[in-house]
Amino acid sequence: MIGELILPINLRHKLFDKVKHTYYLDINNHYQNNMRVLFTLLFIFLFENLFSAEINLFTTRHYESDLDLYRKFEKKTGIKVNVVIGKSKPLEKRILEEGNSCIGDLLFLADAGRLYSAQEKGLFKIVNSPILESIIPPQLRSQYWFGVTKRARIIFYNPEIMSYDEIKGLNYEDLSKKEFQSLIAIRQSNNVYNQSLVASLIENNGVEFTEEWLKGFVQNFSRQPQGNDRAQILSVAAGESKIAIANTYYYALMLSGKKGDDQMLAAKKVKPFFPNQKNRGTHMNISGIGILKNAPNTNNAIKFVEFLLTPEAQSHIIKNTFEYPIIQGIKPSEHVSLMGLNFKQDNSTEVSSYGKWQKKAFELMQKSGWN
Ligand SMILES: [Fe+2]
Repeated sequence: MIGELILPINLRHKLFDKVKHTYYLDINNHYQNNMRVLFTLLFIFLFENLFSAEINLFTTRHYESDLDLYRKFEKKTGIKVNVVIGKSKPLEKRILEEGNSCIGDLLFLADAGRLYSAQEKGLFKIVNSPILESIIPPQLRSQYWFGVTKRARIIFYNPEIMSYDEIKGLNYEDLSKKEFQSLIAIRQSNNVYNQSLVASLIENNGVEFTEEWLKGFVQNFSRQPQGNDRAQILSVAAGESKIAIANTYYYALMLSGKKGDDQMLAAKKVKPFFPNQKNRGTHMNISGIGILKNAPNTNNAIKFVEFLLTPEAQSHIIKNTFEYPIIQGIKPSEHVSLMGLNFKQDNSTEVSSYGKWQKKAFELMQKSGWN
């Protein structure tokens, strides 16, 4: 009978040992023996379930290095991390459909717009953690989710075909000007990073301004939007486009050589430029995490989020993924440092506003003819 149970391996061994033990003690009374075995099984099963220290993490992040970090947390706390990796939409669908019976404790997402959308769908619960509130700047968190890393969406140019003087002092707002006609490479409008960038323009300049801005911006595309962020940088390196818009970590990833020599050489031909330095600062986004409404292991889940914001964890993440840390005093990776660390980040725009305006942003982007 025991062999038919679907149980974790360690629990099966415990049960088997118990059964063997009981059998030898009271071999003559089969009924009592059976009842004793049954209660023992029940007791162990309940005990294991009541006191199991684990969390179930749903994540859209696909980095091998994240898994190494979770192992560090397990070693430190004895809390096991079960990881489910997937795309945001299917994970959200699963959480919604499973409702009360969903085993998920945490949802880890890239982009503040996605975090806001999960919040709007009622996926997260309010979490009070004085530790997290004291560590994470208010514009990078909400009551429902917490920023874990930062990334900037910036401009890349090829100094062989465009001088620094041509873009000196540039703002995102200037990218719709005629002087940039047919020069800009950017990915499609369905990309969430682009939607968040446009949402931040709406938040700072209003809907009408952004609608007008988009009309000019689309005219300035060097080609039909296509490919990922690295493809935009490659287009500039090849001289096909003069300006690319991409997230900082993609450029550092290319520079690191992890994407092959060709991409490393291409990245070396290109220079980063941080817009809006004389006003609100460069557009920043986050990767962040929230605790699910029906989380069976809330306390352990809070411990996990707090761990992600420790110097040890922050240092581990940014060295491997080329993002920026949320907490002070952590040195970014060599390749991120090469890009320059003294740029002004936009610390005044709340990242939750990207979620608030994301639908409107997408609507205006499509209306402007951005495929
Ligand atoms: Fe990305």
